Formats: sequence, structure tokens, C-alpha cells
Amino acid sequence: MIRYVAGIVFLIGLSLNVVVTESRNVLKLPSEVSRFFDADESNVGHDDDDSVGTRWAILLAGSNGYWNYRHQADICHAYQLLKKGGLKDENIVVFMYDDIANNEENPRQGVIINSPHGEDVYKGVPKDYTGDDVTVNNFFAALLGNKTALTGGSGKVVDSGPNDHIFIFYSDHGGPGVLGMPTNPYLYANDLIEVLKKKHASGTYKSLVFYLEACESGSIFEGLLPEGLNIYATTASNADESSWGTYCPGEYPSPPIEYETCLGDLYSISWMEDSEKHNLQTESLKQQYHLVKERTASGNPTYGSHVMQYGDVHLSKDTLFLYMGTNPANDNYTFMDDNSLQVSKAVNQRDADLVHFWYKFQKAPEGSVRKTEAQKQLNEAISHRMHLDNSIALIGKLLFGIKKGPEVLSYVRPAGQPLVDDWDCLKSYVRTFETHCGSLSQYGMKHMRSVANICNAGIKMEQMVEASAQACPSVPSNTWSSLHMGTRSQTDANNNEMLNNAIVHEIDPITEEVHTRNDQVSSPQTSRRTGDEQTPNDDDEINDGVKVAGSDLAEILEMLENQQLAIS
Ligand SMILES: *[C@@H]1O[C@H](CO)[C@@H](O)[C@H](O)[C@H]1NC(C)=O
Ligand SMILES: *[C@@H]1O[C@H](CO)[C@@H](O)[C@H](O)[C@H]1NC(C)=O
Repeated sequence: MIRYVAGIVFLIGLSLNVVVTESRNVLKLPSEVSRFFDADESNVGHDDDDSVGTRWAILLAGSNGYWNYRHQADICHAYQLLKKGGLKDENIVVFMYDDIANNEENPRQGVIINSPHGEDVYKGVPKDYTGDDVTVNNFFAALLGNKTALTGGSGKVVDSGPNDHIFIFYSDHGGPGVLGMPTNPYLYANDLIEVLKKKHASGTYKSLVFYLEACESGSIFEGLLPEGLNIYATTASNADESSWGTYCPGEYPSPPIEYETCLGDLYSISWMEDSEKHNLQTESLKQQYHLVKERTASGNPTYGSHVMQYGDVHLSKDTLFLYMGTNPANDNYTFMDDNSLQVSKAVNQRDADLVHFWYKFQKAPEGSVRKTEAQKQLNEAISHRMHLDNSIALIGKLLFGIKKGPEVLSYVRPAGQPLVDDWDCLKSYVRTFETHCGSLSQYGMKHMRSVANICNAGIKMEQMVEASAQACPSVPSNTWSSLHMGTRSQTDANNNEMLNNAIVHEIDPITEEVHTRNDQVSSPQTSRRTGDEQTPNDDDEINDGVKVAGSDLAEILEMLENQQLAIS
């Protein structure tokens, strides 16, 4: 046990890349100065007027599970902000799984906060689409204003007209070309772009602003979102890096002691903490973009992320007021450049779940059921990561050879190019991988680029099937591997049997074979080879060398393994 703990301390120490941004004072201007800056705008009212049309918003948290507390906290916080800005409930469509406020892990039952001293942001949030109704399909239907396409939920949609302004804020895990959802399937970038084009073609908005928090979120728009749709998007990170959680345990500022989870995400709280301080008639999207970019970069090239902008960048001269309204209480707080930066520390989005399990483990009384449970959760999360990293790396080596495999998988296309040319290939190869190796889940979304590169290299479906079958003789029993809801099954153990049954009836979309768990375990897949690609002759030799390039965690775990620490 002691060695176990030592190993985990080491792991956490390395994986929490903590960093401090430059500290600046928050400046609020006295009313006289404010009036001076505001002279031209003194006639603008807070209610809807003809020049603005109606303001609509879609707020979507794509995750569930207490360890992802922060995404739903971000979304609830955004709701409060827009509500104070004057938007009406009927115009704000909220998607959240809604398993946080009353989660048994939540120290303040019925309450969600988004910063250490923040007030409750959960109160009053409309529950339009919760639980299993948080789906890609419902998101698209709500945005397109198509009620007949909805399944479940409140039925609220963006029923907008040509003069209206739309604001979309999405906070979740992501990966190259993909955004998470608490349900399957995840949201692919090309489908989102198609829906945005369709919305534009319907002539039902004047302009649309999309704020996106997720790992590799730049890849959702990079080389994909054309100009001319009257859409301006900013993302928490570029196409090739993690985004960051913040207000995490053990950081400064840290959440109240009883919280064992991160309360917010760096990009998200940066724009919201800026927006809620100012008269938004005096601040443009562009000013906010620069400010958020600086705060999210954390002043450190290794640990922050690069906030990016896409689409019709000229729209960034618009005031935030057009999309978010403004809180009358802030009328005298005029925006000045750089007056919102604060100290922040951050945790890589992908490691925030480990942070939760670690703090849960550490704080639980010795010998308690809770301690055992936390240890099990930590072990499962880590072994699932190792399994995914190793399987993807092995598939790369089987397809391209030991030396070239890692190179091909980690290749990043130049800026301005989309992740993949053939999105159908990406989707079907991801399904192939998951059919054999289990769900990518939230962590595994990072491997989307590898699968995209396999498509870009022209690998054929039969080869992908063979390599996946060879790399993964069976789907691991780890709950995170569940094809249907790996990220949910831990919070709802009762569902596990149902989930397993669902896997039994899984139909492989490629081979159109009906796979059952028994089939997968017993079929003699390990001896088959596709023949024409370069593959090494000795499986053991491959397995020994497996390591995913660029994966800090894989390296850390390998070090831990070498020290023979019990990590799983
Ligand atoms: C709305 O959705 C339904 C069901 O998916 C579809 O048949 C219909 O064409 C859609 N309507 C519009 C206007 O896109
Ligand atoms: C802004 O300042 C003016 C002039 O001092 C004052 O009358 C008004 O109440 C202030 N507004 C707010 C919301 O504080």
C-alpha cells in the first residue's frame, strides 16, 4: 500500500502541470470616467430592440460524472450571466446531464459553484435537455429550430428570425475533430459545420458567436469553418493541444476544502469572469478574445493553451452586448484593456478525473469503503488509459511498421488544413477500433488524430479491422471501455448489466457481423495478418516497445512500472 501511494503521489506530481499567470489588479472605473467612455451609447437600452433582434443562446455541457463537475458548472454560470444580461429563459436552451448538484459526492447538495468564492449558479437553470436527452441529434435540432427532429427534452428550440443574434457555448472534453457528449455518438466537426451551414442557409440569424471549451477545440473549426456564414468562433485551444481545468484541489486559488474536483475551466471562467464585470456595451468580442487569450495562455508556453478565433473575424468588432446583453448593475463599469486578468493555475483537462480520484482517495479514512472505491476508480482510469495508448500505438506499428508507426500517428497537418479528408472513414475506423478495443471514452478522444492519420494514409478498411483485432483480442471489462457509456457506468452501477447486454448485440458496422462478447474473446484473431503491409513478426517484441509518442502519462506510467509500483 505504501508503495502504491508513493507511486500515485509521483504520478500526480508530474501530471498536474501547475502554473501561475501574471497577476494584475482588477480595475473598476468610477461612474464619471465610465460616462466619458459611454457618451455615444447612453441611449442604448437593456431590452431587446430592433437593431439587436432577439438574443438566443444554446449552452451545452457535454460530459457527466462528478469528476467532470466543472463543465456543467461552466454552463450554469453562463446561464446566470445571460439571464442577468437580460436574455429570457424562453431564449436560452440548456443542455446538461444534471448529475452534479445532487450527486452524492457534492459537499453542498443542490448547489453548484464555478469559482472558490462563487455563489450558487445552479438555481433557476432551465432543464431543457438533461440525462439521455443530451444528444448530438437534439443539439442540432434545437439549433435548427426543428421541433419534429427532437427526442425528449422540453421542446425548446432556437426559433430565431433574420435579425436575431445567437450565442453558443459548449464546454466539455474533446479531441481532434470531435466533441464529447454524455451519450453516444460524440459530435464530429464536419457534422457540426454542416448544421451551421444549414442554419445559415435558412436565413434565421444575423450573426452567430460560438465559444468552445475543449481539448484540441481548434480542430473543430480549423480548415472547416468557411467565412461568409456570419459566424465568429473562438476556442480554448488550438487544433493540437489540451485545454485546461482550473480551481482544482491543491492549487491556488483552490476550491473550498470539501471539494475534491475542479470547479471550472480556464478559458470558460476567463470569458465569464470578464463578462460579468463590465458594461458589455463597452466591450467588443475582439477585446474579450485578447484578454481571454492572455489569461488562458497562463504566461507559460508549456502549460497554457492558445485561444484561437475562426470564421468571420470581422464580426469581432461587435459588442458583447449584442450576444450576451449586459447586467444593468455593471452600467458604470466600463471595459478597459487588461482590467480582468487574475492569478490562475490550471490542470490539463485530461488529468482532471485523476485529480478527483486522487483527492478522494487521499482524504478518505484509512480502511474505509470509500478509500477502496477511490483506489479502484483510480486504477481503472489509469489502466484504461494504458490500454488505449498501447492499443493505438500497436495498431500504428502493425499498419506502418515499428519505426514509422509512431511517426504517422502523431503527424500534425499544417495550420489551415482540416484534420482528415474523409470524415466517413474517420467515423467508421473509430467504430472499428471501439468494436475491438472498447470505448475511447473521454480520455481516448485524444487519439482521434491517430485514427485520422490512418485514414489520410489510405489504409483500407480490411487492414484497419485486422490491425484492431490483432491489437485487441478482446474488449477489456474495465467500465471505461463500455461501448455505450464508459463515462457514465461508474456513476450508475445498476446500468452495467444493461450495458453489457447492449454490447452483446453490437453489430459491427463494417463487417456487418454480429459480435458477441464470447465471439470476441474466443475468435482466433491473433494469428491473422493482412499480408501486404509491413508488420513485424513477433508480437511480443511489439508489445515490449509500445509507447505512445507525446503521451506524458504513458511515459510516467512506464516509469512507474519500471519501478514496479503497484498501479493497477
Ligand atoms: C426536421 O426534422 C425532420 C426529422 O428529422 C426532417 O424530416 C425534416 O426535414 C426537418 N425539417 C427541416 C425544415 O429541416
Ligand atoms: C452609475 O452612476 C450614476 C452617476 O453616479 C448613478 O446615478 C447610477 O446609479 C450608477 N448606476 C449604477 C447601476 O450603479
